[in-house]
Amino acid sequence: MNTTRTKVGILGGGQLGKMFALAAHNWDVETWALDASRSFPTGPVCSHFVEGNFNNFEDVYAFGKQVDVLTIEIEHVNTEALTQLEAEGVKVHPAPAALKLIKDKGLQKQFYQKHGLPTSDFQLFESGEAIEAALRSGQIKYPFVQKSRTAGYDGKGVAVIKSEADLPLLLPDASVVEELVVIEKELAVIVARNENGEVRAFPAVEMEFNPVANLVEFLVCPADIEPAIELAAEQLALDTVSAFGVCGLLAVELFLTKDNRLLINEVAPRPHNSGHHTIDSCYTSQFEQHLRGILNLPLGSTKMKTVSVMVNLLGEPNHVGPVQYDGFEECVAMEGVKIHLYGKAETKPYRKMGHVTVLAENAEAAKAKARLVQKKLKVVSIPL
Ligand SMILES: Nc1ncnc2c1ncn2[C@@H]1O[C@H](COP(=O)(O)OP(=O)(O)O)[C@@H](O)[C@H]1O
Ligand SMILES: [Mg+2]
Repeated sequence: MNTTRTKVGILGGGQLGKMFALAAHNWDVETWALDASRSFPTGPVCSHFVEGNFNNFEDVYAFGKQVDVLTIEIEHVNTEALTQLEAEGVKVHPAPAALKLIKDKGLQKQFYQKHGLPTSDFQLFESGEAIEAALRSGQIKYPFVQKSRTAGYDGKGVAVIKSEADLPLLLPDASVVEELVVIEKELAVIVARNENGEVRAFPAVEMEFNPVANLVEFLVCPADIEPAIELAAEQLALDTVSAFGVCGLLAVELFLTKDNRLLINEVAPRPHNSGHHTIDSCYTSQFEQHLRGILNLPLGSTKMKTVSVMVNLLGEPNHVGPVQYDGFEECVAMEGVKIHLYGKAETKPYRKMGHVTVLAENAEAAKAKARLVQKKLKVVSIPL
């Protein structure tokens, strides 16, 4: 196929849309983006920005009618419009039926169960009150993890309930209640699929948590795991994308348990935060791979060029307003330090403003340099 002048639409105009549009422009693809404001990260780099609401049927439908292939950079979009567009011949990737399923963590868990894909044990509940009743009757026991079926994002909508003392944390929503997994490591494997059914996996990434803040601090590739576990993790992610039958990327979040089992936590059918290092460290970036997948092109090699550690660049606490990056010059001077700024005009505490991928000979060297970058590079607001 000739990619020139193929029109690809993206629902969402954030940083994932920006990095996707940059990759698409390499192949002269015409990119269209839909989101609330052209001042968002994708605005300056796509061919056409349409201001609108990706949750609104009319906006998504009208937007989709103008493109050849429609994709997403966020799951929370109007799937009814996508179903309609698909019925009218627009190529929509991921497929709207799969996206509907993935948007609901309850349906997602049932899907794994039905397809024999390993995941933690779970039960579904209508509300927080129903969970309290189930605790009283002994149907469920402490500890457990409660997840809102539809309201989750970046840790919001997840409550870890270890004992009665944590009950005030219980969410009122319709939810999944899962066993609390004893986690050895959290891994992510990004896989891709095209319409021909070709599939490929990127090497697993390991999420390293800051023990004090309990937040993901480093995403390390390759993961520090046995080769057999690496192979099993990649195979599980490949089986998962084949089961969903989606085209483009599927990011598969996995738990490696203390007793060495792999469990699927959740998936995202789009480019993912845990794949940003691929831009600098792999033969093919996750964004190029997504494009290949949705255009039914041969998938690219996922081979690693070098070890990498990725850190998110978050807004400093106590800084709100027009953004400024302190320590930029000092950090770009360092070998293997690749800075990606998303172009958001305003910073807020912990807002994702960019990321840095550090390339090095080995993980220890990359982590040491990443720590230095964390110390020097700060997202602050311009002093008023
Ligand atoms: N069943 C579980 N057992 C233990 N920890 C869990 C479980 N489910 C989630 N977590 C922890 O909570 C985090 C967020 O959960 P996740 O379902 O990935 O929600 P989000 O949509 O916010 O990413 C996970 O990365 C993991 O650290
Ligand atoms: Mg998650």
